[in-house]
Amino acid sequence: MKGSIILAIESSCDETAVAIMQGMGETSAPRLLASVISSQIPLHREYGGVIPELASRNHSLALPPLVREALHRAEIDITDVDAFAATTGPGLVAALIVGNTTAKALALALNKPFIAINHLEGHLLSPFITDEQGLCPHLGLIVSGGHTLFIDVEGLGQYGLLGRSVDDAAGEAFDKIEKMLELPYPGGPEMDLRAQRGNAKAYALPRPMIHANHGDVSFSGLKTAVLYLLPEILQGKSPHEIPEAIICDLCASAQQAIIDVLIHKLKRALTLSGRRTLALSGGVSCNSALRQQLVEACQLMGIELLLPDYSMTTDNAAMIAYSALLHHEAGHSNPLSTPVDPNYPLFATVSQRVQQKSL
Ligand code: KG4
Ligand code: ZN
Repeated sequence: MKGSIILAIESSCDETAVAIMQGMGETSAPRLLASVISSQIPLHREYGGVIPELASRNHSLALPPLVREALHRAEIDITDVDAFAATTGPGLVAALIVGNTTAKALALALNKPFIAINHLEGHLLSPFITDEQGLCPHLGLIVSGGHTLFIDVEGLGQYGLLGRSVDDAAGEAFDKIEKMLELPYPGGPEMDLRAQRGNAKAYALPRPMIHANHGDVSFSGLKTAVLYLLPEILQGKSPHEIPEAIICDLCASAQQAIIDVLIHKLKRALTLSGRRTLALSGGVSCNSALRQQLVEACQLMGIELLLPDYSMTTDNAAMIAYSALLHHEAGHSNPLSTPVDPNYPLFATVSQRVQQKSL
């Protein structure tokens, strides 16, 4: 049975993305009719990070042709869309406004509902997009540039926080260490590639809070340890002047410290929550060593592991469309007056929705 068609826009940071998804009934995975992304990474690379003003200006330029391209690829007319969705937060406020205003304008013009989606919920549910069974109770780990969250998921909108990073997110740790090593932005993919050629035991780096009796993680101490270690390694030279093998060893050692902390805390969260399914999401979830070590750890523990398709790990609109589709099917929508929220908390989003529904 074919269901509703959702057009979703993602513009929270440096990717402008549009996706169109159609529900296929309860027993089949939804069909992704189109997913287009215009990445601004090369533009921001020059500055070593995302420049908010540049991001929003480029979202404005990229969005109209991307919407047309998505409709063309999906082979549908804009009037076929049943609801329009946009990432409402968290993210860069001026960047979010571009995507939200576009989705709201389309909803208003076509008299269709608007659905405000939390970017983190998009990541959290992304491993289920291609799953025939659909969303099930599980433990979710979001590892992105801005967040590291261990979340107990009972169902749509029923999320319990089991742990988070108290300082830098996992992706941020990759990006900051990459900056020290003068590698191109963003750091994760660059370090991943070099780590594959390095020795993870070459440098003894700290695993902060790994044995602390709580679910939180911390990565800022790791970054500081690399900062203090670097002068000893570089001996007054730049990272480009020392043998590549040393940089690879450093990347592998830092990466392994991050993975060890994540896997240790995951085991703890699985035991506490009693969940037998683990779903990994966010930009860092495409890290090759993390994926491989999680597959091994889950096999040993008898845990079902869901990994998002590589195309759904970093920011994309397919994950926003999927989350919007589930909310649309549950009868949720948001008023056009809904403001963007750069700090939109996942857990407050949920209680607002529940309140809205019961009004
Ligand atoms: O989810 P995402 O696209 O954006 C946020 O919502 O933050 O995640 C981006 C983060 C960046 O920090 C980037 O360095 C990291 O994901 N990342 C990786 C890899 N690819 C991207 N980290 C580790 N290994 C990778 N292969
Ligand atoms: Zn993201």
